[in-house]
Amino acid sequence: MGRAFVYVILGGGVAAGYAALEFTKKGVSHGELCIISEEPVAPYERPALSKGFLLPEAPARLPAFHTCVGANEERLTPKWYKEHGIELILGTRVKSADVRRKTLLTAAGETISYKFLIIATGARALRLEEFGVSGSDAENVCYLRDLADATRLVNVMQTSAGGNAVVIGGGYIGMECAASLVINKINVSMVFPEAHCMGRLFTPKIASYYEEFYKSKGVNFVKGTVLSSFVFNPEGKVTGVNLKDGSYLPADLVVVGIGIRPNTSLFEGQLTLEKGGIKVNGRLQSSNSSVYAVGDVASFPVKIFGEIRRLEHVDAARKSARHAVSAILEPEKTPEFDYLPFFYSRVFSLSWQFYGDNTGEAIYFGDFSGTSFGAYWVNKGHLVGSFLEGGSKEEYKAIAKVTRLKPVIEDLSELERQGLGFVVAL
Ligand code: FDA
Ligand code: NAD
Repeated sequence: MGRAFVYVILGGGVAAGYAALEFTKKGVSHGELCIISEEPVAPYERPALSKGFLLPEAPARLPAFHTCVGANEERLTPKWYKEHGIELILGTRVKSADVRRKTLLTAAGETISYKFLIIATGARALRLEEFGVSGSDAENVCYLRDLADATRLVNVMQTSAGGNAVVIGGGYIGMECAASLVINKINVSMVFPEAHCMGRLFTPKIASYYEEFYKSKGVNFVKGTVLSSFVFNPEGKVTGVNLKDGSYLPADLVVVGIGIRPNTSLFEGQLTLEKGGIKVNGRLQSSNSSVYAVGDVASFPVKIFGEIRRLEHVDAARKSARHAVSAILEPEKTPEFDYLPFFYSRVFSLSWQFYGDNTGEAIYFGDFSGTSFGAYWVNKGHLVGSFLEGGSKEEYKAIAKVTRLKPVIEDLSELERQGLGFVVAL
């Protein structure tokens, strides 16, 4: 049993949706393209799962956040795929791939062949078991990667109103879920091993602003330690957690956000990997010329910094997906991918954006006791990164534009004095 397509997108997440839109913009015939996804629904904007989806009032629900609404593009509902002759093969896991034969084998036993493959398998959440802690399949321990996880989290939250939550991890999931839990009137303790939250991006000074804000909302921070074990009741529900520092926290609900691993396993031994992802060139093409990789699973050359990186953010997924389609359909017209890293988050009334690289020395500006402040990173005499909390649309645009230019900075104190004025003036 088998089917053949010219183009196959493996994975049905953010990158898949944006690739599909690009295929239709550039011209693809009915029946040429399919998307294979383990998830039972058409591609959607995954960032909604830790934000609008968790709100107690008027929460976001599908079909409202199918791709590509996140970039103010068309909303691609199942009907849209049908009208454009794109086959959605949903609820279907691919269990093996043969890049030499150009075939994929599904868990149901179907062989799907392709001329061009775009790997968009994203990533999976790391589990506590991988750090030696068992019991994270209990009914009130929640991870957050897909719609099923988010639906489960909402159900557990609804039965925990007024109770206690422990959030394990001080990264993006930890920070965004902690805020959502507070909004749902649940008492939150955050536990993470680092000295401050968002250790991969924030400096201690930036982190302390957000931690103080969270504390003002009642969040309790337990830093510099990790979970050592869960405490269960006779029904197998978690009632608390023991920490390595010897303390105990009661819990009606636990949310775990301790990082991800890209889904590369189907291709290990067949394609070159680097930095945990599938290594691609500036055309998003892997070590096999018929196979492209995009989104969280791809390690691509970030031209502006002259090195290969793997980025776990939605903007990179959207843009790399579009670029790969362009490289496949219009190879002569498509230049090398030239991407400026962009990360953002929104929690409570706060909202920040970051562009570029957080290496070198951080120079701060603005009012850290107010609602708008930021930082530049200067490395080897060039401005390489910019962070802004509480900016306007124009200000965010300005920091992005200037960061891309990597301007020479001769005088750090002058940059500090000018603050946001430095980018607005350029
Ligand atoms: P994505 O994970 O979206 O999709 C992968 C797809 O492949 C899934 O549908 C999966 O089921 C499927 N798949 C995997 N293996 C398969 C197999 N063997 N067979 C079939 N299907 C398979 N970023 C940001 O910049 N700002 C933000 O605010 C947020 N917020 C956010 C919230 C939450 C809760 C999460 C989990 C993540 C974010 N992110 C984010 C990160 C962002 O969502 C992420 O970078 C993109 O979703 C990556 O898109 P991909 O398409 O690469 O993977
Ligand atoms: P992360 O890498 O942002 O943070 C992981 C955190 O886990 C670390 O900060 C650390 O505090 C903690 N940690 C690591 N090992 C631990 C251990 N053994 N015990 C306790 N804590 C431990 O990953 P995440 O928060 O899980 O997010 C998952 C993915 O979702 C990432 O790719 C992220 O980019 C994406 N995401 C992005 C956004 C956004 O961009 N706004 C929002 C949500 C999710």
